[in-house]
Amino acid sequence: MGQAKIYYDSDADLGVLSNKKIVFLGFGNQGSAQAQNLRDSGIPNDQILIANRVDSYAETAKAKGFHVEHDFATAAEVADVLFILIPDQVQPRVFNEQFSPKLKSNATIVVASGYNVFFNLLKFQPGQDVVMVAPRMIGSSVRSLHEKGRGFPCFVSVEQNGTGKGLDAALALSRAIGATKQGAIASSVREETVMDLFAEQALWPNIIMMFREAFNVLKDAGCSDEALCYEMWMSKEPAEIFERAADDGFVAQLKHHSTVSQYGQLSGSLKLEGGAMREHFKDILYNQILSGKFCEAFSQIEDDLDKEGDTNPLNELYKRSEEMELVKAEKRVRARLAGLL
Ligand code: NAI
Repeated sequence: MGQAKIYYDSDADLGVLSNKKIVFLGFGNQGSAQAQNLRDSGIPNDQILIANRVDSYAETAKAKGFHVEHDFATAAEVADVLFILIPDQVQPRVFNEQFSPKLKSNATIVVASGYNVFFNLLKFQPGQDVVMVAPRMIGSSVRSLHEKGRGFPCFVSVEQNGTGKGLDAALALSRAIGATKQGAIASSVREETVMDLFAEQALWPNIIMMFREAFNVLKDAGCSDEALCYEMWMSKEPAEIFERAADDGFVAQLKHHSTVSQYGQLSGSLKLEGGAMREHFKDILYNQILSGKFCEAFSQIEDDLDKEGDTNPLNELYKRSEEMELVKAEKRVRARLAGLL
């Protein structure tokens, strides 16, 4: 336990993909990057098909020389491999209604995010392989790192092994998109989903709350808007700290700070026992994420996220967040910087 298996190029056989029709549903951030990487890896263009509704993404795919099919039923019928690379919230409707009924009974279905598989929102047939190949990078980096001959971090897993050869397919596809060059980490849709949702619903909300309250306390103590905004994030110091943490080590990066800072950070953090936070985190993990409660609640508002104005729940949350003193102050600082005030 604790140590994950890592797969490299040498673990994968691209021969598994010969004569297979590989369909990419979506040519957005991930779709465009992964399809181009796969073609560069030597998969013939005639084996690749981009399934895309009529929109600017389809035009981009055509401009890059790909074959594009607008009729999803036709694309589903020919697919030996289907990459589902459209936004997570539209996948259940598009896949279940337009792809699932027409897909081959032994097709390999690839997701780049665990959410819909973990929460059983996609309907698969028992003979199909369902694999996850989930880059830990935005699409433009998936593409640019591959063009530079480098790899990118990626999670890989087999969630349903209908053909018995799901792992071979998952590794060949990972290699073809450039994901095993640096090493693809064996994971699962559960692990990927839990970590993503936990970061989004537990870690970052607390970080936002801590910045908000730190701002309020320091402002009340007489610090200026300018000083606070620069001190806390506009100088990019936090970004630099995380970069150093990635390069040197989470704690080892502290050595780049002054002695006063090192002493303050280490003694301060060790003094905080963290018990209340641990309970709060567990509550979110077990009662909100793993229980399916968040997924159920999110499914109910999903359609409203396409609406304009205040009836869109996301717009309503942005509006409320703008009431934070930190946000108001930052607006003033940016306006003054631009000479608008
Ligand atoms: P995206 O937002 O770039 O997707 C755009 C594509 O989806 C276009 O081809 C568009 O035609 C199609 N599309 C949008 N709405 C549609 C609809 N209603 N019906 C049919 N087609 C529709 O998607 P992105 O960000 O590439 O995400 C794809 C998958 O990759 C998701 O599962 C996501 O979680 C995963 N992922 C995304 C990363 C990123 O960098 N954005 C990073 C790692 C994984």
